[in-house]
Amino acid sequence: MAKNDLVLENVTKKFGGLTAVDRLDMEVCQGQIYGLIGPNGAGKTTIFNCITGIHPCEEGRILWKGDDITKLPPHRIAAKGILRTFQTIRLFPQMSVAENIMSGRHVKSSQGWWHGIMHTPKSRRDERENWLKVEEQLEFFQLHEFTVQPVQSLPYGLQRRVEIARAMAAEPSLLILDEPAAGLNDKETMGLLKLVFRIREMGVTILLIEHDMDLVMQLTEKLTVINFGKKIAEGTPAQIQQNKDVIEAYLGSDDDD
Ligand SMILES: Nc1ncnc2c1ncn2[C@@H]1O[C@H](COP(=O)(O)OP(=O)(O)O)[C@@H](O)[C@H]1O
Ligand SMILES: [Mg+2]
Repeated sequence: MAKNDLVLENVTKKFGGLTAVDRLDMEVCQGQIYGLIGPNGAGKTTIFNCITGIHPCEEGRILWKGDDITKLPPHRIAAKGILRTFQTIRLFPQMSVAENIMSGRHVKSSQGWWHGIMHTPKSRRDERENWLKVEEQLEFFQLHEFTVQPVQSLPYGLQRRVEIARAMAAEPSLLILDEPAAGLNDKETMGLLKLVFRIREMGVTILLIEHDMDLVMQLTEKLTVINFGKKIAEGTPAQIQQNKDVIEAYLGSDDDD
């Protein structure tokens, strides 16, 4: 069995009186495509925010390749190779596709500010390397023809691709996608499916939240289902489809996705 990359132990996150994530245990193995599903408001995005340090959890531990990352700030977690996209796209709308992707290189930059100002050999080397990585993403995500276009002028499907490209520019080991197919049409969703498989072939572990059940069933190897912040089931897509609690949670909710 593959090694565990990401381990959540007893993770709990409260907002005032509301327990958004309740004693959650979860293990994602290296190279897996792992799905996190559940009705709206179940706590899925909050779990991603805990993992990426945006809303650190009060209780429990999060381990990454054996290191405790529970209390680390977001930039330190990103520097460890955990990168994400957001449920609502967060790009720089007026900046070009290339500039947005370049912004993903930020977490790789270890040099002091003076290198840039002084145009040291290191800063020139880094800049070359950064543009090379941006080029790679433009190619991989088939965004070349839009290189200089401001992202706000692009359709939603392409903006989603730019956001994943930006995360990939940082050379992640774990890519976390929060509802990557939201707002996409069927053709764009199929394109996304192929992209995610190709990203995994590159050795990247993928953790995703997705409402599109067809996509989840085709894409993921293992799933955790949560409802009201608690894990109600865990298993392969086939096991989850048969699970009574899961069927009840979905049919019993107002979620019409
Ligand atoms: N920053 C926040 N402040 C207060 N409550 C929040 C915050 N983020 C999420 N919540 C609440 O936590 C619960 C889980 O939300 P969320 O994780 O966004 O659910 P999901 O992604 O599964 O739809 C919801 O009741 C939501 O209102
Ligand atoms: Mg959410």
